[in-house]
Amino acid sequence: MPSEMQRRDYGTAPKGVGRREFVRRAVVSSGFAWRYLTAPAGLLLAKKTFGLGAQTNTLGQSVKELVTANSDFFVRNHFAVPKISDEAWRLEIGGLVSKPLNLAYADLLLMPSARCASTLECAGNATGGAGVGTAVWSGLPLGDLLQQAGLKPGATTIVFHGADSGEGENVPPGTHFARAIPLEKAMEPATLLAYEMNGEPLPAEHGFPLRALVPGWYGMDSVKWLTRIEVLDQPFKGYFQDEKYVALAAHGASRPLTLIQVNSKFLRPSEDEEIHGKTYRMEGVAWAGERKIARVEVRVSGGAWQAASLAGSPAALIWTPWSYDWQVPRSGRYVLEVRATDEDGRRQPDARDPDRKDPYELNTPHGVNIIVP
Ligand code: MTE
Repeated sequence: MPSEMQRRDYGTAPKGVGRREFVRRAVVSSGFAWRYLTAPAGLLLAKKTFGLGAQTNTLGQSVKELVTANSDFFVRNHFAVPKISDEAWRLEIGGLVSKPLNLAYADLLLMPSARCASTLECAGNATGGAGVGTAVWSGLPLGDLLQQAGLKPGATTIVFHGADSGEGENVPPGTHFARAIPLEKAMEPATLLAYEMNGEPLPAEHGFPLRALVPGWYGMDSVKWLTRIEVLDQPFKGYFQDEKYVALAAHGASRPLTLIQVNSKFLRPSEDEEIHGKTYRMEGVAWAGERKIARVEVRVSGGAWQAASLAGSPAALIWTPWSYDWQVPRSGRYVLEVRATDEDGRRQPDARDPDRKDPYELNTPHGVNIIVP
């Protein structure tokens, strides 16, 4: 839809109301976008939350406990945040399709939407690190748009192209951020082109106006600032596909990174915290990408692993809060550790595989040092 038409349709924004916010309000009042009428707190467990097989999420937790606020959500960018005007921006869907699409921001807002609560983790997140967060993402199922574009026979690979490029981090000149996923993952109902994060338009640093959201897979595939989606009949070759974000073994073998591995961390206590009182509740989160968490255990200073309590019934794609009530021993310094096991019996490894030469999939147990005064 040309931007002039938007202007005519929606009128002039009142003083003090930004153009984007004004169009949003107009879309809401036209009745298309019921999602805007839902308070963020009501978003998570209601209606359509997609897991694999569109399961119902029964974690029974308050939204605050499950969702990371946008302002606290980690940001991982390879280049500067591109400046994008939603009026000029377009999304192209091309390559092996019979009807290439060219869509404006408002076109996307007017299509039926879906949402998915999912945990996003950066492949390079350190053990216990901040490179993981959970949000409720809203947008369009990618599969619906690919169907509209008409996939041609032989299509196997969906490439996401981002608007950002630059010189940073030894990147070859002229490289923009791009990653590809297999068609099968692209067609899963939870794989979205997301334009909202926790009920707000995507913040600029998280990909405004549109990003891919590939739940259960490491964050690099959730390409931000999307401008083009390309359908191929062969593997995609690119710097961020073949040079970065691959698992490297010492003898030179490499494999692409995809699924988020089982992992967990403490939310409390934090490093060097002083713990007072007779009992203390350790708390944290555990996640396993496309799999559910089956078990979380903690141990104190190398002692026996003890089962922690899981909140509600764990769901795939979203982290599970856990807690452990600890009888605080006599004064001293202690190391607390946590590890998780997924429903397939995969457990966090005690130590990093010495054969690994890349800095990704770091999921050894998280430890924190604490002091009992
Ligand atoms: N998309 C673009 N266009 N450029 C990027 O640098 N970083 C990726 C991914 N998408 C990136 C991108 C990486 S490595 C991660 S972990 C996630 O975005 C982080 O998403 P966030 O910054 O919204 O948390």
